[in-house]
Amino acid sequence: MTFDDLPRIALAHAPTALEALGSLREHLGGPRVWIKRDDCTGLAGGGNKTRKLEYLIAEAEAEGADAVVTFGALQSNHARQTAAACARRGLACDLILVPAVPRDSDGYLTGGNLLLDRLLGARVHRLQPGQAPAKVLERVLAEHAAAGRRGYVIPTGGSNATGALGYVRAARELAIQCRERGIYPAAVIHATSTGGTQAGLLAGFRLEGLSTRVIGINVYNDDSPALAARIEALTAEVLSRIAPGIAPAADAVEVLDGFLGEGYGIPTAAMVDAVGLLASREGLLLDPVYSGKAMAGLLAMVERGAFVEDDDLIFLHTGGTPALSVYASAFPDH
Ligand SMILES: Cc1ncc(COP(=O)(O)O)c(C=O)c1O
Repeated sequence: MTFDDLPRIALAHAPTALEALGSLREHLGGPRVWIKRDDCTGLAGGGNKTRKLEYLIAEAEAEGADAVVTFGALQSNHARQTAAACARRGLACDLILVPAVPRDSDGYLTGGNLLLDRLLGARVHRLQPGQAPAKVLERVLAEHAAAGRRGYVIPTGGSNATGALGYVRAARELAIQCRERGIYPAAVIHATSTGGTQAGLLAGFRLEGLSTRVIGINVYNDDSPALAARIEALTAEVLSRIAPGIAPAADAVEVLDGFLGEGYGIPTAAMVDAVGLLASREGLLLDPVYSGKAMAGLLAMVERGAFVEDDDLIFLHTGGTPALSVYASAFPDH
């Protein structure tokens, strides 16, 4: 079976745009910076998970599932896009959401992605601190089974080998856009957390015969070696599925530390500056949890001279802006 024969349901508006960040370059100097607009994948606010869900929901339907269960933080973008995909396909959707971030404003607890989850018809199971997601999953699946429904479980972030296929496809899309414009990117830079986006890109570029660096800015936790190992294993698993003769490139996984701050979902000063800079210079919205911290990483690399003036960098905007307003207090000076 070739890559194009794999079961997939079209959910994303793709190809997403590849735009030059000209004003940012004028401001910064240094390399040309491009942005790949995966915040505009089109499904109920967009974001990177929509591409993964094209393959995950196809697999769910192929297995005869009529209910989908997944996990995330309270303001999970993955959960919101899963709820939207399920609404579109007529599947029941259960979201098991954990209180992973120490924020307790009304907005954080009821607005942003959570409001959208409810509008999209998902059943939200909000866990208490210390409550085990596995127990809730067991109960939800048992309820579906008792009602004659078959459940399909998507892991946190949609980051298994099936979900990562969405970013194999995105890598090919980006390779075509770069070829058309004569761009030879020195690196693609993006927020990495559960690793499926990075693994899919690495596998996809490998398939395309490209050695483009993929730099994941760790916005997840302080164990980058474990995250890098997970991404390496997932890249190998994806390649073994779609191109058994091709091994992952050695030492290709780059996970960059230094931009997480105190933890997942906790604002940093560099994130606030990056979000403000891109909004005021480019009219472009980033988010506080993922793309804002990733952009802070890109800006710091440019500032410390990690790239030369003639390089082209691609920032993959993975979305997350539906959570921006629930972080209003992080932007007191804007
Ligand atoms: C907006 C946004 N960017 C980046 C990521 C990270 O993608 P991945 O989980 O594939 O590493 C996520 C994951 O939740 C996300 O919601």
